[in-house]
Amino acid sequence: MQCKRSLFNSQQNIKIMHKNYLVLFTLFLVGLISCEKEQMSLMVTSPNGSNEIIFNLSKAGHPNYLVTHNNKKVIDTSYMSFDIKDLPALKGDFKIVNSTTATVDETWQLPWGEQIDVRNNYNELIVKLEEQSETKRKLNIHFKVYDDGVGFRYEFPKQDNFDEVLITDENTEFNLVGDHKVWWIPGDWDLYEHLYNETSFSKIDALSKQKNPNLNATYIPENAVNTPVTMKTDDGLYLSFHEADLTNYAGMTLKVDTENLSMVSELVGSDRLEGKAKIKLPFNTPWRTIQIADKAGDLIESKMILNLNDPNAIGDVSYFTPMKYVGIWWEMHIGKSTWDMEGSQDMNTVTTGKVGTSRHGATTENAKKYIDFAAQNGIKGLLVEGWNTGWDQWINTDDREGVFDFITPYADYDFDDVMRYAHDKGVEVIMHHETSAAPRTYEKQMDEAYDFMKANDINSVKTGYVGKIIPKGEYHHGQWMVNHYQKVLEEAAKKKIAVNAHEPIKATGKRRTYPNAISREGLRGQEFNAWASDGGNPPSHLPTVAFTRMLSGPIDFTPGVFNIKFDEYKKDNQVHTTLAQQLALYVVIYSPIQMACDLPEHYMVNGKVHPAFQFITDVGVDWQQTKVLAAEVGDYVTIARQEKRTGNWFVGGITDENERTVTLTFDFLDPGKTYKTTIYKDGLNAHWNDNPQDIDIEDLDLKKDNTLDVKLAPGGGFAISIIEKK
Ligand code: NOJ
Ligand code: CA
Repeated sequence: MQCKRSLFNSQQNIKIMHKNYLVLFTLFLVGLISCEKEQMSLMVTSPNGSNEIIFNLSKAGHPNYLVTHNNKKVIDTSYMSFDIKDLPALKGDFKIVNSTTATVDETWQLPWGEQIDVRNNYNELIVKLEEQSETKRKLNIHFKVYDDGVGFRYEFPKQDNFDEVLITDENTEFNLVGDHKVWWIPGDWDLYEHLYNETSFSKIDALSKQKNPNLNATYIPENAVNTPVTMKTDDGLYLSFHEADLTNYAGMTLKVDTENLSMVSELVGSDRLEGKAKIKLPFNTPWRTIQIADKAGDLIESKMILNLNDPNAIGDVSYFTPMKYVGIWWEMHIGKSTWDMEGSQDMNTVTTGKVGTSRHGATTENAKKYIDFAAQNGIKGLLVEGWNTGWDQWINTDDREGVFDFITPYADYDFDDVMRYAHDKGVEVIMHHETSAAPRTYEKQMDEAYDFMKANDINSVKTGYVGKIIPKGEYHHGQWMVNHYQKVLEEAAKKKIAVNAHEPIKATGKRRTYPNAISREGLRGQEFNAWASDGGNPPSHLPTVAFTRMLSGPIDFTPGVFNIKFDEYKKDNQVHTTLAQQLALYVVIYSPIQMACDLPEHYMVNGKVHPAFQFITDVGVDWQQTKVLAAEVGDYVTIARQEKRTGNWFVGGITDENERTVTLTFDFLDPGKTYKTTIYKDGLNAHWNDNPQDIDIEDLDLKKDNTLDVKLAPGGGFAISIIEKK
């Protein structure tokens, strides 16, 4: 290879008109900076210069990269390659044919979200590689460097004699520079519903998380972690590894090498495929992303994952209104009622195998009770699970194809009557489709099921994929299922339906392209508090989720339990937070749909709605802007969000098992204005276990220059509504 040392600065400005904005592409500094040891290097820095990627081609033509932050290495030399079935690996032997650079600085808008305006500002480098040997296969590596992190993806261009690949392994390395503290869940191919572990990198032991009795499908083949995985270095820098725009490809776990402090991509496989992903050229892989932040809160404020996705492809989504909702749901999880009319399926009977004594939850009468509660308390939506036939057979059987049809209600659920009643009371019904992990059945029935929804003015659906995927040999996070979840989004979009998927593929920012992807589960949700044999989610769970799972996108966590211990139903389970923390979650855990998940009767005291419910009635679900006020991964987080429609502010703060005091300042308020403020905080004796329902509610007038000290109990929190006095 000829060794060249050249540095050039091109000032070519190309103006490109887009529909709504003008993007200024600046071809900027490209440095062929080094040729020692006959390596070729190209570098690209972020707009403010803090982050930099250096791309190298080794002497043997093997691509590799490293990342620096403020001139310090954060990812050491890491190699990239692919193993391909029946073909030589795409690995060494490359030469750089060409490279291009560009600068983008544009602002686009979310139709609903944590904020309206999103700035997308990065410098990019595309390196075009070609094998030198006879095969002459081509591979491009596309880097985008942001002030809040870096992303890169592989682009397989159209080329002669290379038109399809069966990838048996993608080997993207992430070599760390220290034994960082890590918040991780195992690289499970089927479910993300694990508790987060906080260990040093060298102590990650994902294989010890196999055989979890609380998971209905789980497969952890390697010592690997799932993404987003978040780390803190000894220098106090935060890193989070994930992927963006996961399309027609397998989900990525990261296999860890605890001795060499390195990770390598381990794609979720398919036994039927005997590989990881089969794709026709041309195609692009998802982006491999590393968020880099000096403060923990900056991880939450980053919009890099969204920016790495394509713009809206489905147009107007005003058929979906962000909303709060109640539902016939928690009562099955705590064992008060059953999904099936036959009376055998609640989470008590499912987990203990004992046939329950409870009764069908989704009856006409019960649905009306929830509708009344919603209408009286300013809640827009109602979810009804167990409304359709088939629930007596949905679990504990391998033959789940055709169990549900999504159009036939149980005999004790008068579908039309409930719809009419809801409509009269101004309540919008959310459909429920539990597929029982039989996606082929669902694909067959989807069209009819969505038409049935639209004929009844239902605009959103909660889907579910409980159990092992049928057909055998596929996993929830493999390419085949990635394509299924995608098909659901596309078909739903055609019919103007919004989707909230449970047991989903992870969020990778696709809501930018498909804003009908409103929310999803994909974590250990509130339901585990109702029945998990380990008792439920510990108080550190949500202060960890905010910096891990939540970085990928909206979470349907279903907050709002007021009867924290529900001893009447389950003695060994409870929620591990205070009531005040349950309120805080409406602000802290972002989703455009937020459930008030407890039973209507649990929201009542002495015949009246609990005064704390006023916060749930008032709190926004669609935001103008979001600010993280205080944050430490796994410990605490306080977030302020301004509601889009009203301009009102809401603040939520949560802590782990440790009590603490936070001092709040209100720089975000307008000067000279007075705000009617209500603060819902832990009572003096509150404690997630000893006294979880102790709550103080205080009204005060607030101004921009005020400060407030708020004490959070162990497992506690606070919520504040700030409404301008007119
Ligand atoms: C699991 C979901 O996470 C839960 O919300 C739902 O109630 C059950 N599946 C039944 O569909
Ligand atoms: Ca679940």
